[in-house]
Amino acid sequence: MARHLITSAIPYINGIKHLGNLVGSQLPADLFARYQRARGNEVLFLCATDEHGTPAELAAAKVGKPVAEYCAEMHAVQAEIAKGFGLSFDHFGRSSSPQNHTLTQHFAGRLADADLIREVSEKQVYSHADKRFLPDRYIEGTCPNCGYDKARGDQCENCTKQLDPTDLIDPRSAISGSTDLEVRETKHLFLRQSQMRDRLNAWIDSKGDWPILTTSIARKWLNDGDGLRDRGITRDLDWGIPVRKGTEDWPGMEGKVFYVWFDAPIEYIACAKEWTDAAGAPDADWERWWRTDRGAADVRYTQFMGKDNVPFHTLSFPATIMGAAEDWKLVDYIKSFNYLNYDGGQFSTSQGRGVFMDQALSILPADYWRWWLLSHAPESADSEFTWDNFQTSVNKDLADVLGNFASRVTKFCRSKFSEAVPAGGSMTDREATLINDLQTRLTEYQTQMDAIEVRKAAGTLRAIWVLGNEYLQDVAPWTTIKTDPAQAEMQTRLGLNLIRLYAILSSPFIPNASAELLAALDATQDDWPDDIATALTALPAGHAFTVPEVTFRKITDEERTDWQARFSGIRS
Ligand code: 2FM
Ligand code: ZN
Repeated sequence: MARHLITSAIPYINGIKHLGNLVGSQLPADLFARYQRARGNEVLFLCATDEHGTPAELAAAKVGKPVAEYCAEMHAVQAEIAKGFGLSFDHFGRSSSPQNHTLTQHFAGRLADADLIREVSEKQVYSHADKRFLPDRYIEGTCPNCGYDKARGDQCENCTKQLDPTDLIDPRSAISGSTDLEVRETKHLFLRQSQMRDRLNAWIDSKGDWPILTTSIARKWLNDGDGLRDRGITRDLDWGIPVRKGTEDWPGMEGKVFYVWFDAPIEYIACAKEWTDAAGAPDADWERWWRTDRGAADVRYTQFMGKDNVPFHTLSFPATIMGAAEDWKLVDYIKSFNYLNYDGGQFSTSQGRGVFMDQALSILPADYWRWWLLSHAPESADSEFTWDNFQTSVNKDLADVLGNFASRVTKFCRSKFSEAVPAGGSMTDREATLINDLQTRLTEYQTQMDAIEVRKAAGTLRAIWVLGNEYLQDVAPWTTIKTDPAQAEMQTRLGLNLIRLYAILSSPFIPNASAELLAALDATQDDWPDDIATALTALPAGHAFTVPEVTFRKITDEERTDWQARFSGIRS
């Protein structure tokens, strides 16, 4: 039995995620986790909320809540929506957990011991009105290059010039609008990533099987010079993990916290400890996933993320892990995704543009979304959600091909025979051909799922559904029954077994519909098939079943137009 550690990029705590976020990390990670479990492998699938950083603080302030309270509430909201989408995390943790505090401080201590951290004095803008240092992007002013009056301290959105806050003319706080700003000297810790260039280069070079999207981004940053520049890993904020060297104070760092991007990936590890702590299990149980000296040497670790997260996962986080010089598991495979666009533009959280996870679930069950999103995953290029395309895919693939097959076979059996698998007849060449074709497609499907080629796998699964439809159309039991009832029984028996097979093979994509179909068939044996011929005899003659409820309904033209209009605006 293989062992798979799987993590999805951890979503920021502020706000509910849109479908573009979902398809870029959590959903394909769930697909892979479900597939590996279905293959009988041991899986630990982890995700969490990313709770630190200025956006979380500002979102809490906006709703007038203490940030810890806000995060606790939003974590519960995100956990509930994740459940609604069938995301099968073994644990959905929190980067603000005590476990992550301890582990983040531990890593910082190890890096310091290895001389991979240096202290740097910096000048930073302090806002008296806000009583805080302002991150560059929270300072606004007039661009010295183009005169745009809402340029940010890190970059001008209008002319794209990279800026320093001190470049801005008439700078003000983007939080309060106050111009009562002062440039103050402050001390920060920098991770000396530049020391690790050779190791990181060699490591990336050894990953010839990684998606080009992942390695091309990693190489660009590695070779660009700027990408591996030493980075500040601390901030002058209240909310975050206090800077400590392991369990000791860090002189001069009082009142400072670690930068959110330093502690977020460490939460992948801390999350595993949260998982065992919650179950009252010993540390050995999580360490066997994360420590190569304690059982994790044979674990295969796969990370899922959007392309914007790749630099942190190919450079900074591996630098942290390598630099700590303990036996932590390094990632084996990074699956990254391009962007999903929305109806002629971009999904945008800050602008409230697109369909958000809670809204999606309020209009259709999760499987409809899962199918569309995964079968259109932005793998080789950006892809686009349009309501037209969504309607077409759902109606064709799910309602016409899969749903219709299940309903036709079960209803035919009930009306012509009974609600039990019929016994008569024996297979012919036509069935042998079908079995052969299915076996070929199954191998293809497994190869694609193993390689996490999401779109291709969806295409193959659909082709597997189509084979059953073509068979049914060909042999037409409703005609056969007139001349050879026993053969019609065999064709129907095979049809019923095909529904079971489809439910099992489809379960990583559409787990709820699969479970409904298996329940209707009263199929208790749901092992992944090795041999198609054997799998198609699992429901024996006489086995009782019920006709499933409508598995997938069609989306009407009225609904499509209505939803398109409803989601064309901006969510507040
Ligand atoms: O882009 C994001 O949504 C980040 N919150 C992802 C963090 S992934 C990791 F580092 F934990
Ligand atoms: Zn400008």
